[in-house]
Amino acid sequence: MRILVTGATGTVGRHVVDQLLTAGATVRALTRDPASARLPAKVELVRGDLGSPSAGVFRGVDRLFLLSAGDSARVVDLAREAGVRRIVTLTSAGIADEYQETERSVEKSGLEWTHVRPGMFAANLLDWARGIKAGGVVREPCAQARQTPVHEQDIAAVAATALLFDGHNGHTYTLSGPESLSKPEQAAAIGAAIGLDVRFEELTPHEWRARSGVPDLVADFLLDIWQRATTRPEPVLPTVEEVLGRPARTVTEWAVDHAGDFR
Ligand SMILES: NC(=O)c1ccc[n+]([C@@H]2O[C@H](COP(=O)([O-])OP(=O)(O)OC[C@H]3O[C@@H](n4cnc5c(N)ncnc54)[C@H](OP(=O)(O)O)[C@@H]3O)[C@@H](O)[C@H]2O)c1
Repeated sequence: MRILVTGATGTVGRHVVDQLLTAGATVRALTRDPASARLPAKVELVRGDLGSPSAGVFRGVDRLFLLSAGDSARVVDLAREAGVRRIVTLTSAGIADEYQETERSVEKSGLEWTHVRPGMFAANLLDWARGIKAGGVVREPCAQARQTPVHEQDIAAVAATALLFDGHNGHTYTLSGPESLSKPEQAAAIGAAIGLDVRFEELTPHEWRARSGVPDLVADFLLDIWQRATTRPEPVLPTVEEVLGRPARTVTEWAVDHAGDFR
């Protein structure tokens, strides 16, 4: 079985590739820049852009892992015409037009489909690495935002399961990690993994914008999520465990896997 993985060089896609290879699948990976892809030698690398897809990349492909980017309606049409039978999408627990468009295109295609909708990636916590390395401190606003970071390998495992096995057709899997944690608790969970007392210092949104240099659009997006999660904590969902038959990984487990990034 040949599976085309889009977003294969991304945070989740790399693990989808690894897990499919481990399961013995033939993996083709789409990237805009094969020279810098750094994927395992067994992967068939194809150059392509989801914004201007070409039919050739889908030839001989049975199943597709589809990132929400570019012209998804066209991508889905080309995939169906080439004989792809199943599409697993990677969208988001957060509603956005782009994600909805991708999901609708896939649902209308008549192919088998599964949607994987993760919440906050634990990998976003890599943004804290510099402050932790420099002095064991995280400085951000909205300390009491309670989120449920999900390990990228768990997201990939759910996607790989839906790609490889039957029984997931027509399912939408919204994913979270196993704990709803405030930011000081997330910082402490990383500290526990690396054996360091990591402190959280709360900034005002204004101070954070000025210090972090995060572009305004991104800052607005993040502040909106954090402010919402302060009044309405993000829920812990059972989906990872239901699909995989084992608990989702904690933030401390995630930080152990990334300890080198924080030391
Ligand atoms: N971070 C979060 O908390 C979070 C939460 C929920 C959902 N998400 C969503 O999850 C998805 C994956 O995120 P990620 O962090 O794994 O990705 P990422 O690390 O940012 O990597 C982006 C990937 O998308 C590919 N890509 C982007 N535009 C493309 C295009 N026009 N044509 C082909 N490939 C394209 C890139 O491939 P090349 O550069 O190799 O071409 C790369 O593999 C995104 O849609 C993101 O919005 C993120």
